[in-house]
Amino acid sequence: MGLGMGLNMLLLLAMVATNILSLYHLSSSLQSKPAAPPPVPDHLLHQLNTIRATINHLTRLRSTSATSTAASTTKAPVPSDLLLYAHISPIASACRDNPDLLHRYMNYTPFSLCPDDTDLSEALILRGCHPLPRRRCFSRTSAKIPSSLTSNPFPPALPDYALLWSHYSCKSFACLNRFNDDLGFDMKLESTKFLTTKSDLDLTIPQLVQIAKSSSSVLRLALDVGAGTGTFAARMKLHNITVLSTTMNLGAPYSEVTALRGLIPLHVPLQQRFPIFDGVVDLVRCGHAVNRWIPITSMEFLFYDVDRVLRGGGYIWLDHFFSKGIDLEKVYAPLIGKLGYKKVKWAIGNKTDASGLKNGEVYLTALLQKPLSR
Ligand SMILES: *[C@@H]1O[C@H](CO)[C@@H](O)[C@H](O)[C@H]1NC(C)=O
Ligand SMILES: *[C@@H]1O[C@H](CO)[C@@H](O)[C@H](O)[C@H]1NC(C)=O
Repeated sequence: MGLGMGLNMLLLLAMVATNILSLYHLSSSLQSKPAAPPPVPDHLLHQLNTIRATINHLTRLRSTSATSTAASTTKAPVPSDLLLYAHISPIASACRDNPDLLHRYMNYTPFSLCPDDTDLSEALILRGCHPLPRRRCFSRTSAKIPSSLTSNPFPPALPDYALLWSHYSCKSFACLNRFNDDLGFDMKLESTKFLTTKSDLDLTIPQLVQIAKSSSSVLRLALDVGAGTGTFAARMKLHNITVLSTTMNLGAPYSEVTALRGLIPLHVPLQQRFPIFDGVVDLVRCGHAVNRWIPITSMEFLFYDVDRVLRGGGYIWLDHFFSKGIDLEKVYAPLIGKLGYKKVKWAIGNKTDASGLKNGEVYLTALLQKPLSR
C-alpha cells in the first residue's frame, strides 16, 4: 500500500517534471523564434532520469513482492480456499471483482424461494465480498426440525435431517466422521477437548478460568476465531461464559452444527472486521485457522482488530499458532510484541508431524493480557 502511494507520488512528480520541461521548451522557442532550441539544462535532465530510475525500481519491487506472496501461498499445505482469498482488497471492490459469481448469485426470482446456492454465497464471502448484496427471496431450510432442540452443547448425536446436505460431498455425519473423525462432528471426541494437557503447548479451560480468577479478571464474553464446530464455545458454556464463534463452511456444515449445539456461529472470514463493538470482550481465542499461511499484512490487521474488540485487561489466546521457527523469531513474535501485551503464557514447541519436521516448524501457544491503559 505504501509502495503504491509512493509510486503514485512519483508518477505525479514525473508528470510535473515533464510538464516543466515542455514549458521550458515552449517558452524558450517563443522567445527566440528562428534559433535552434537551446539545450535542456542538465539539472532538469538529471532529475528526470532519477525519477525514471526510481519508478523502474519501485515497479520491479512491486512485481517481485506480488510474485513472492503468490509463491508462498501455493506452498502452504492447508485451507487452499481461505489461503487463496485471504488477500486484501480495496473496500467494496471484492464483489465487483467477481462479476461471474455475483451475477449467478443475484440471478433469482424475487418473492419466491432462494436458489439452492449457499455454496455461491460462501465463495463470494471468501473472496471478500461481504456484506453480500441483498436478495428478496426466502432462505431454504430443512423441512424437519429436531423434536427437542438441545441446549446441551455436547449432544450425544447430531440428527442428519436437521440440515441441508446438497452442497457437501458427504450426506451424513457418519460419512464426515469416517472421512476424518477430528473435523469436529464426532461429539464424543469433542467432549474430551480443552480438558487435558499433553505438553506445555496445551492450555485447558479449567486452567484458563483459574488464571483469570487469580488475577481477579472476569470472563463472561469471548470470541473464538476459526471455531470449527464451536467446541471451545461449548466447553465455555458449561462455565456460563458466552462465546461467539466465527465459522466458515469449508466443505462441511460447520456453521449449522455450531448452531445445532445451541451456540452462535458468526459467518465471517478471517479478513473481515469482527462484527463486535470496541473494547467489550474479555477473551479472544485464535485457533488452528490463524496460522502462517495468512499474509502478514492481513495477520497484522487481524491482531489489531482483536485488540479493538478486547477490553482493557482482556486476554488473547493464540492456541497452537504455527510457523517456521525462524519466522516466529523474526516476524511473528515481533508482530505480536507490537501489541504490548503482558505475557501470561508463552510456550514454543517443535511441530512434530511430517510437514512440521520437513519445514522446521514450531508451535506457539500464548496467553497475553491487554494493558489496562496505554
Ligand atoms: C452456571 O450457572 C448455573 C445457573 O445459574 C449455575 O447453577 C451453575 O453452577 C453455573 N456454573 C458454573 C460453572 O459457574
Ligand atoms: C526442535 O527441533 C530442533 C531442530 O529443528 C532441535 O534442535 C531441538 O532440539 C528440538 N527441540 C526439542 C525439544 O525436541
